[in-house]
Amino acid sequence: MIKTLDGKIALVTGGSSGIGTAIAQSFAQAGAHVAFTYHSNKEGAESVLAEIEAMGVKGAYFQADMADFAKAQEVVDQVNEKFGTLDILVNNAGANQDKVVWKMTETMWDEVIDTDLKGVFNYIRAASPNFREKKYGRIITVSSINALRGKFGQSNYAAAKAGVIGLSKSVAKELGRSNVTVNVVCPGLIATKMIQSMPDDFKEKAMEEIVLGRIGTPEDVAEVITFLSGDGAKHITGEVIKVDGGQYI
Ligand SMILES: NC(=O)c1ccc[n+]([C@@H]2O[C@H](COP(=O)([O-])OP(=O)(O)OC[C@H]3O[C@@H](n4cnc5c(N)ncnc54)[C@H](OP(=O)(O)O)[C@@H]3O)[C@@H](O)[C@H]2O)c1
Repeated sequence: MIKTLDGKIALVTGGSSGIGTAIAQSFAQAGAHVAFTYHSNKEGAESVLAEIEAMGVKGAYFQADMADFAKAQEVVDQVNEKFGTLDILVNNAGANQDKVVWKMTETMWDEVIDTDLKGVFNYIRAASPNFREKKYGRIITVSSINALRGKFGQSNYAAAKAGVIGLSKSVAKELGRSNVTVNVVCPGLIATKMIQSMPDDFKEKAMEEIVLGRIGTPEDVAEVITFLSGDGAKHITGEVIKVDGGQYI
C-alpha cells in the first residue's frame, strides 16, 4: 500500500468510536502518526491506540470535551509538544439530541451547538496559528447531509452541521494563502453507535433513500477524508463532499 500520509501528524477529534476510529485507522495505514480525542469512552480510546501503534506509527489520546475552548488549545499544544508539529486536523466528534422544535429544551439546543459547532471553531482556532506559520495544513470537518436538506427532529443538529460549512468556507478563504486546505465531508446514514438509538422507521426510511442500497460504513467516510488529507487533494479547498450512497440527491 502506498503511504500517502507518510510521517504526517494528524489530530482527529472523537477517535474513540465509529467514524473517528476508522479515520484514525486509515491515517495510520497511510503512514500518519495519529493523536485523537475521546470524551467518555476511555476503553475505546485505549484499544484504538493499541491498534494504531500495532501498525507501526505513533499514537496518543487526550480526554477532551469539544465545547471546552481552553482544552482545545491544550490538546493542540500537547500534540505539538509530543509529535513536534501538526499537519492534519479532522473535526469529527459530534453528538445529537433529537426532538421536534416545539419540544426541544434550551439545554438540548445549547449542548448540540456547543459540541458540534463551537467545538469545531475551538479546534480550528487552536490549530490555525501553527498552520499559518508553517504554511501547510489540512482541515477536514465532518458535517452531515442533514445540514444540506434539514431533518425532522434535528433542528439543533442540522443548524450546527450547517454552521460548520459556513465556518469552513470562510476559513478556507482566510487560510488559502497559507497553503491550508479546508473541506467538509457530509455523510449520510453510517452504521455507528450514533444511529443505534434512532427508531427503526427512521432507518427504514433512510434505506429507501439510499440509491446504492446499503447503509454506509465508517470506512466509506474515512477513505474520503484520507484522500482529502493527502497530496492528491492539494488543489481542493472550500469543498463540501457528500458520502451518502446517493441518499440526498
Ligand atoms: N453515523 C451517522 O449516520 C452520521 C451521519 C452524518 C454525520 N455523522 C457525524 O459523524 C461524526 C462521528 O459520529 P459517529 O457516527 O462515528 O458517532 P459515534 O460512534 O457516536 O462517535 C462520536 C464520537 O464523538 C465523541 N464525542 C461525542 N460528544 C463529544 C463531546 N462533547 N466532546 C468530545 N467528543 C465527543 C465521542 O467520544 P466518546 O465515545 O469517547 O464519548 C465519539 O468518539 C459526528 O460528527 C456525527 O455527527 C454521523
